[in-house]
Amino acid sequence: MPEPLANPVVIRVTNLTRTYRIGSERVEALRGVSLEVCKNEYVAVMGHSGSGKSTLMNLLGCLDKADAGLYHLNGINTTRMNASGLANVRNREIGFVFQSFELLPRVSALKNVELPLIYSKVPFWSRRKLAQQALQRVGLADRMHHKPNQLSGGEKQRVAVARALVGAPSILLADEPTGNLDSKTSESIMQLFEQLYAEGQTIIMVTHEVDIAAHARRIVRMRDGQIYSDLPAEQDPDCLRFKPAELRPEQTEQSS
Ligand SMILES: Nc1ncnc2c1ncn2[C@@H]1O[C@H](COP(=O)(O)OP(=O)(O)OP(=O)(O)O)[C@@H](O)[C@H]1O
Ligand SMILES: [Mg+2]
Repeated sequence: MPEPLANPVVIRVTNLTRTYRIGSERVEALRGVSLEVCKNEYVAVMGHSGSGKSTLMNLLGCLDKADAGLYHLNGINTTRMNASGLANVRNREIGFVFQSFELLPRVSALKNVELPLIYSKVPFWSRRKLAQQALQRVGLADRMHHKPNQLSGGEKQRVAVARALVGAPSILLADEPTGNLDSKTSESIMQLFEQLYAEGQTIIMVTHEVDIAAHARRIVRMRDGQIYSDLPAEQDPDCLRFKPAELRPEQTEQSS
C-alpha cells in the first residue's frame, strides 16, 4: 500500500540566530535553530529559564526578526519582510496565547475577541458573529459580556484562546499558557487544547511542566539557544510517565 501523504509543512525554520544587545553586552539567545512543523502537529517546547524558548516563539509568531537564518511560514518566506509585512502575516497566520492573558481590562470578553478582526477590517456583524462562535468553541457562551476582572484565571485564558483562534490562524502559539493557573485549571486548558488539536489545529506550546508537555505529541527541548532533543512524546522519558499505560513500552522483569 502507498504511504499516506504527510501533512503539509506549516513552519520551516533554518539556522535562526538572534542576539540581543544592551550597550556593549551581547546575549546570544538563539544560536542556529532549525525546525519543521507540519499541519496538525502538537508540539511542546521545553527547556530551562533563559534557554531561548520565548525568543523562538516571538520569531515564529512574527513578533520579532531573526538576525540570520530563514523562516517560511505556510510557504511564505518571511525572512526579508519589513515590520508591516510581518504584521500582515501575523494577523493572518498566527494566534498567540501568553502566560499573562494580555486581555484589555475595560472591555468585555466579546470585544476582546473581536479585536484582531477590527485590525483586519472585518465588518461589524461578521466580526461579532465570529467572536461569538470563537467564545462558544472555548466553552464561554455564557460569559461573553463579562469583563476580564469578572472572570476566573481559566476563563481569562479561554478568552485569550478564543481571541487567538478567531481569525482561523494556521498556527496557535502558546507561551506558558498555564503558567499562571492552578493545576486543575491548567488541566482544563489542556483539555481545550486537546479538543482544538482533534479539530485539526496546529499547536506549539512552551511549558516548564512535564505533565503539561505530556499532552503534546512531540517534545522539543532547548538548551543555550539550541534544540538538543526533538522526540515523539511517547519516546521522551520524562513525558512518558504521564502518558496512558498502553503507550508505555512493556516493562521487562529487570526494570520492573
Ligand atoms: N529583550 C531582551 N533584551 C535582552 N536580552 C534578552 C531579551 N529577551 C530575552 N533576553 C535574553 O535572552 C535569553 C533567552 O531568553 P528567553 O526569554 O528566550 O528565555 P526562555 O527560555 O523563554 O526563559 P523563561 O523560561 O524564563 O521564560 C536570556 O538570557 C534572556 O536574558
Ligand atoms: Mg519565556
